[in-house]
Amino acid sequence: MVRNVALRQLHPGDFEGIVSVVDDWWGRPVRDKVPRLFFDHFWSTIFVAECSGVPAGVIIGFLSPSQPTAAYVHLIGVDPRHCGHGLGTLLYERFFTIAREHNRVEVWAVTSPQNRGSIEFHGHLGFSIWPGDREENGVSVHSDYEPSGASRVVFVKALKSSIPRDHRMSRVREGT
Ligand SMILES: CC(C)(COP(=O)(O)OP(=O)(O)OC[C@H]1O[C@@H](n2cnc3c(N)ncnc32)[C@H](O)[C@@H]1OP(=O)(O)O)[C@@H](O)C(=O)NCCC(=O)NCCS
Repeated sequence: MVRNVALRQLHPGDFEGIVSVVDDWWGRPVRDKVPRLFFDHFWSTIFVAECSGVPAGVIIGFLSPSQPTAAYVHLIGVDPRHCGHGLGTLLYERFFTIAREHNRVEVWAVTSPQNRGSIEFHGHLGFSIWPGDREENGVSVHSDYEPSGASRVVFVKALKSSIPRDHRMSRVREGT
């Protein structure tokens, strides 16, 4: 159970506070995956969890400007000291809510095929793996997904929508 943690919308001034901790949260360098542009231009769909005013988790996502039914999560991270208590789930639920409020019916996310914890976590949240072109570490991946040439596992989850089915372009079956 998540205790003493408050969720709020990000604001541009959170940049330093977040980028200074993400490497510790991941246990490897990921700071280059958190450019300032998210804080300046996507903050309205990014949420921070705080414990006594200190960042405890973040979900960086946006409403797809090109796919009117889709939303995308670029990354989610939780301070290891808070992991395993439902905070990651809470952050995703907040993002699902804002996605639904904007009539998005599918949420996309990616992770590396080595990140078994993330794969389990996304499965727990009801994401399916979108089939890729080959397997890596026993999981279907999309080759050359990153500029480095690294492959990624692609997830998709269907959300219930208020848009009549005929008016949608969704590629996934409606779920819960
Ligand atoms: C992945 C991450 C966000 C999960 O956050 P969390 O707050 O621990 O997640 P929750 O407590 O809400 O977990 C919900 C469920 O997901 C599953 N899960 C979460 N982390 C898991 C892990 N490392 N291994 C296996 N299952 C895991 C469990 O089923 C868990 O339910 P349970 O607690 O009843 O067993 C967090 O571990 C993290 O920040 N990891 C480093 C960054 C990262 O890899 N991000 C994802 C890619 S961008």
